[in-house]
Amino acid sequence: MKTFVTMGRGGTGKTSFVALMAKYLIQKKATPLLLVDADPDQNLAEMVGVDLEASGKKTIAELLSDTFIAKGGTTVGIAPSSRIESKIWEHGLYEGNNFDLFSVGTKWVEGCYCLPDAALKNALGAITKNYQYILIDSPGGLEHLNRKIASKVDTIFDVMGPSSKSFQHVKRAHRIIQEVGITFNRFYIIGGYAFSEDLKQRVTTDTGLPYLGKIADDEVVAQYVLSGRSLLDIPSTSRAYQSVALILDNRLRLE
Ligand SMILES: Nc1ncnc2c1ncn2[C@@H]1O[C@H](COP(=O)(O)OP(=O)(O)OP(=O)(O)O)[C@@H](O)[C@H]1O
Ligand SMILES: [Mg+2]
Repeated sequence: MKTFVTMGRGGTGKTSFVALMAKYLIQKKATPLLLVDADPDQNLAEMVGVDLEASGKKTIAELLSDTFIAKGGTTVGIAPSSRIESKIWEHGLYEGNNFDLFSVGTKWVEGCYCLPDAALKNALGAITKNYQYILIDSPGGLEHLNRKIASKVDTIFDVMGPSSKSFQHVKRAHRIIQEVGITFNRFYIIGGYAFSEDLKQRVTTDTGLPYLGKIADDEVVAQYVLSGRSLLDIPSTSRAYQSVALILDNRLRLE
């Protein structure tokens, strides 16, 4: 079981990258596959053609809210996170033909994400099904690192934008991840669709981290996202898909 996590500043193309990675892994028959939407804005589901609500599934935030607010909660003697864990698998897990998915959902009360995150972490730790890959889509920025949803991951992909702030982001992300105690085997830089390949050299000199390639700027992806179509249905000839396939082939070569 390998866990891949995307990171990066807002809007660099993290979620579409996860969706295209999912398409690649499905095509390679590297299943079963679990997709985790850790972004409260939750658009990973839509990008892979899943309507949680229509499938009768709930987000982790909704399940917590049902348990602790609407039904009054009977938390006596039981750690909240362990009580919710089985519910996540029962009522939160969307099970498709090629992949499963769950979503952390929108913040359910004032304050921090501690409870949804603890629940998510426990649920992830208690996986019974043997997934080959788990892809976690993170929100933009670094704040979520403190939430430490996954503490042990195989690969982190930082999707860079074209600005010099992206360089600062990468360096900070790489440092903070270690400070908060997230362990990982590999930390790769990916050029987002708006990244300029001219900056490739600077990535290596500035960050010292391996650069795997750039996601192609692809009008078809933009159209699919805009119209809410699943990126899993994008033709395999799509420039963006081809570039993601190349990035993942490169990654496998580096292993
Ligand atoms: N390969 C691409 N080519 C062209 N446009 C793209 C591509 N990938 C994403 N986009 C455009 O960029 C927008 C943001 O993409 P995406 O949601 O994947 O970014 P994100 O990094 O996940 O954003 P956020 O930080 O808000 O989660 C999309 O709405 C889409 O229009
Ligand atoms: Mg996103």
